[in-house]
Amino acid sequence: MLLALSVFAAAHAADGADSGRQLFVKGATPACAICHTLADAGSTGAVGPSLDELKPDVQRVAKAVKAGLGAMPPYPQLSDEQVLALSRYVARASGGGQ
Ligand code: HEC
Repeated sequence: MLLALSVFAAAHAADGADSGRQLFVKGATPACAICHTLADAGSTGAVGPSLDELKPDVQRVAKAVKAGLGAMPPYPQLSDEQVLALSRYVARASGGGQ
């Protein structure tokens, strides 16, 4: 039972989509969702551009998250893995591709 659970957890983490989504909604502080609209995440923030319309690719998201941009703060507290999971999620969910 324990083994089955940990295998499930590992498979889940490897996917990345859920952790990326969860970082977007509340894991990153301040949460991306406060400022950005992204239908897949159920967010309607309007401080920054709508990601559904912008459709950023992975690199564009990662750059904004790492360095910040205008009124958007940088997120030095996120690990490279977290930035990647988050960026892949946003690119895929917004239709920005890989
Ligand atoms: C305090 C509000 C705020 C938060 C929180 C925030 N953003 Fe932003 N974001 C902005 C604003 C404002 C811009 C537009 C900046 C500009 O173009 O000057 C922006 C721009 C962007 C862009 C476009 C970058 C580009 O190259 O044009 C992406 C992608 C993005 N944000 C993703 C995220 C992600 C992912 C998070 C969470 C880790 C996040 N944002 C958190 C306000 C925010």
